Amino acid sequence: MQHIEIKKLLQMEPSLHTVNVKGWVRSFRSNRFIALNDGSTINNIQCVIDFESYDKELLDRITVGSAIHVAGVLKESQGRGQAVEIEVKEIEILGDADTEEVKKTILSPKRHTLETLREQAHLRARTNTIGAVMRVRSALSFAIHKYFQENGFFHMHSPILTASDAEGAGEMFHVTNFDLDNLPKDENGKVDHSKDFFGKTANLTVSGQLEAETYAMGLGKVYTFGPTFRAENSNTTRHLAEFWMVEPEVAFYDLDNNMDLAEDFIKYVIKYALEHCADDLAFLEERLNKEEQNKPQSERTGMLLREKLQFVIENTFKRVSYTEAIDILKDSKPNKKGKFKYPIDAWGADLQSEHERFLVEKHFKKPVILFDYPADIKAFYMRLNEDGKTVRAMDVLFPGIGEIVGGSQREERYDVLLDKVKNMGIDEKEVWWYLDIRKFGSVTHSGFGLGFERLVLFVTGMTNIRDVIPYPRYPNHLEF
Ligand code: 4AD
Ligand code: MG
Repeated sequence: MQHIEIKKLLQMEPSLHTVNVKGWVRSFRSNRFIALNDGSTINNIQCVIDFESYDKELLDRITVGSAIHVAGVLKESQGRGQAVEIEVKEIEILGDADTEEVKKTILSPKRHTLETLREQAHLRARTNTIGAVMRVRSALSFAIHKYFQENGFFHMHSPILTASDAEGAGEMFHVTNFDLDNLPKDENGKVDHSKDFFGKTANLTVSGQLEAETYAMGLGKVYTFGPTFRAENSNTTRHLAEFWMVEPEVAFYDLDNNMDLAEDFIKYVIKYALEHCADDLAFLEERLNKEEQNKPQSERTGMLLREKLQFVIENTFKRVSYTEAIDILKDSKPNKKGKFKYPIDAWGADLQSEHERFLVEKHFKKPVILFDYPADIKAFYMRLNEDGKTVRAMDVLFPGIGEIVGGSQREERYDVLLDKVKNMGIDEKEVWWYLDIRKFGSVTHSGFGLGFERLVLFVTGMTNIRDVIPYPRYPNHLEF
């Protein structure tokens, strides 16, 4: 007989029909109450069994972590905490879980740190916290597609293997099928990449932007949503070596249109999560609240998770130029008191996450969009302003996160772009196609990249990016 998901079951009215559920045992109390979870929801269904009707041998196999199939009748619950429960008529063990083995894992019913959960990432989907996070992640992913599809964008699959470095930051993972112990060399003793699989050096993409731009020049409005890779040695709570990025790219959009799009898009997906992930967010809010209680008063946000999300939806993001931001930072208390690790003394400084967070959390107290950055600290493809020293770049900064979005209006003028490419030491021959689209009906266009895990971090209130992706990849970690 077809089993029914616990999420659906919990919304059903009691009836005399037999229902079938399958799931994993979370707890078994007094030889009578089984808390069963199947991952469809954070909530368990309580299955009540009359132990006198079953063999001890079977009862002994109903252990934490084991998988069972239960057939029974859905009744109004006598206990507190749930509207309905199952009065068990039949029980079948689908998969045993040895109690002694379970004790050694995060499946054992006691508090485990998030670090321990990470070490057992293959089991952590069974925990309340990671289960909730991953359901929210899935909902956000769907909301992203929904937003763009409903707004006339086409989903474009940008390639994962590339020869170019979109960000020009040299943080690429190289891809080869050479025998690394026996590399072919040229006459100068250098590795001969012409003999490699692609006949040239290849990398994992750091961004789908350049290819997305070429498609925006044909389809108008496109977005990519795929994995991107950065070999930056950043051991922080906000960096991964493999992360997912959402990158819309729109023909005829200038930077203002781009900022409007980013703001509208972010608000939409957060609202979607609030509306569709109520139970998971309630759980995560409670979790965060407990965590906050352990922090010093000065570090607490003073807002509950869902209040924070609501606040973002309801308030206009503050738009500030880089130049204004530098003035604010220069005059700020932490700067004057030498509290910043990287003091701000002059225009042109690259902003660190401590500065971004000061602006968002202490100064403006709301999300901020910084724009018009110095050309020198930004990528080659950004449109040069008339002042000749700033570019039409924008970063969206979020409380607790710092940069969540990076984007720009793109340089559409062939000559200016070619100069930039040359000056930045980029191999013209690698980006000939990117330059080429500036020759045929080149137009103003813009786009941005949203770091998907940073969005998930914000919405779930988690603090470490490694806990919002199923299998995090970061320096020295490639288990699983
Ligand atoms: O600011 P970034 O480097 O911009 C780009 O890659 C552009 N090509 C995007 C575009 O205009 N189409 O990265 C965009 C976002 C950042 O704002 C951040 O949220 C996220 O990607 N990000 C990372 N997330 C996790 N781990 C990392 N190592 C990240 N690097 C960037
Ligand atoms: Mg950036």
